[in-house]
Amino acid sequence: MMNDEIPSDTALMAAAARAAHLIVDQPPVIFADTLAYELLGDRAEEFVGYHRLHGDHPVLAGARAAVTTRSRYTEDRFAAMTGVDQYVILGAGLDTFAYRAGDKSRVFEVDHPATQRWKRRLLADAGTAIPDAVTYVPLDLEKGVDGLLGAGLDHGRPALVSWLGVTMYLTREAIGATLAVIGGFAPGTEIVLDYMLDPELRDAAGQAYAEAVAPVAAERGEPWLSTFGPREMAALFDEHGFDVAEQVGQRDAVEAALWRRSDVLRPAALSMVARAAVRG
Ligand SMILES: C[S@@+](CC[C@H](N)C(=O)[O-])C[C@H]1O[C@@H](n2cnc3c(N)ncnc32)[C@H](O)[C@@H]1O
Repeated sequence: MMNDEIPSDTALMAAAARAAHLIVDQPPVIFADTLAYELLGDRAEEFVGYHRLHGDHPVLAGARAAVTTRSRYTEDRFAAMTGVDQYVILGAGLDTFAYRAGDKSRVFEVDHPATQRWKRRLLADAGTAIPDAVTYVPLDLEKGVDGLLGAGLDHGRPALVSWLGVTMYLTREAIGATLAVIGGFAPGTEIVLDYMLDPELRDAAGQAYAEAVAPVAAERGEPWLSTFGPREMAALFDEHGFDVAEQVGQRDAVEAALWRRSDVLRPAALSMVARAAVRG
């Protein structure tokens, strides 16, 4: 659905929400994306400014809760996977893991070509060093993920595949086709993805967020194309050779202490984080 020439607006929004979390929310910090603000460059103040001025608005606070919980969950999981040093980010957007992690891990950033070109310009403008360990893989996930197979990943060893904030923009067929390819990775490979819950599984805050955000995303060329329930997602994993490790909502994606807060961040029943491992 995305225009080949226009970078992803939702990637910008997600990065702004991560940057804003460190500025407008009170401790405890859920996720410290210490490079998001500078990566946004000239546009940082414009987009973080919405959070400064209207940070209590349910859509902006909801966005901060969603992006911080999913990233925290995923990076914590990678840190806990001893011996796994390959990190694949599908639909990487402005994810900054590679530039915070240095050369400790091999990172493969997969994204729509226009968004990846834009990110690389932003990195250059910010003067951010590109670690040797980063490989950029431009491709359209609607057209298949086979390009990842020749990208230099060591297919004899497991990886963590991060797929955050993307499945809602893809058809079920494209999600299944991507899972089919990842399902052929070395046993021990794990995937962490998030998905939007079917409307009947959302709470009032989740439904209000969806009603406000989905039409705007569609207008900007990134419509929500799929939502799931946990059972349907489990079946999709099973079909493509994965064992589900867990599926958690925003509340349970991070430790309970992070929700003892004096600010407006609250978990909503809107999206789920699912983690599954390639069957041995
Ligand atoms: C909401 S952003 C999420 C970015 C990042 N994962 C994060 O958590 O901030 C969605 C990302 O999915 C990418 N994306 C959407 N549809 C895609 C497609 N068909 N092929 C490749 N990337 C796609 C966009 O380019 C964008 O980077």
